[in-house]
Amino acid sequence: MRIDIITCLPRLLEGPFSDSILKRAQNKGLVEVHVHDLRAYSTDKHKRVDDYAYGGGAGMVLMVEPIVRCIRALQEDREYDEIIYTSPDGKPLTQSVANELSIKKNLLILCGHYKGVDERVREHFITREVSIGDYVLSGGELAAAVIADAVIRLIPGVLSDETSALTDSFQDGLVAPPVYTRPAEFEGHKVPEVLLSGHEKNIEKWRFEQSVQRTNKRRPGLLGDD
Ligand code: ADE
Repeated sequence: MRIDIITCLPRLLEGPFSDSILKRAQNKGLVEVHVHDLRAYSTDKHKRVDDYAYGGGAGMVLMVEPIVRCIRALQEDREYDEIIYTSPDGKPLTQSVANELSIKKNLLILCGHYKGVDERVREHFITREVSIGDYVLSGGELAAAVIADAVIRLIPGVLSDETSALTDSFQDGLVAPPVYTRPAEFEGHKVPEVLLSGHEKNIEKWRFEQSVQRTNKRRPGLLGDD
């Protein structure tokens, strides 16, 4: 998979891809992540990529021309399965959206910024708008990193134990069960006996019951109640 990200703040995206699982995935050749500085596609002598909103009002709007120039330059080399725009009014990012995106070949993510992006970009170039939650971030860069992370870890071979993505919260519509590691007793608090029993069937049953109980208590909506 290849993920291209267009942003006017490329430095914000240096961290998330240069460590741990996301770095390893790139080193293993399972994913390529390319960050593109929108300013490089500005023809303005000050490299401006935003302007005042027509009709007035506070906040700057990302201009259509540099964005389209950048998208078209990237499209010359490959076809994108999705051109995603990060925005609080997009469709919520869920595990099922991440699953869907994880089987694509080329993803392009445009980070929103300031008051937003000229609507003509959204109308004519964007194929999917994604929100990472009902709150407003200063820009779409962190949202793009969250989307990329949720997607990349699902690519086969990225996680060392492939089954670990399958046992994540949400993969089966349930949150994950509790987990424990050594010591078996800490300040009088014991690890549930069944986990020490070595009895695989009982452990599996206990984990499933815990998942159902937790989902009921913490995220009842996941069970289809809302
Ligand atoms: N940009 C600003 N806030 C955002 C959010 N919640 N999700 C995606 N992009 C955003």
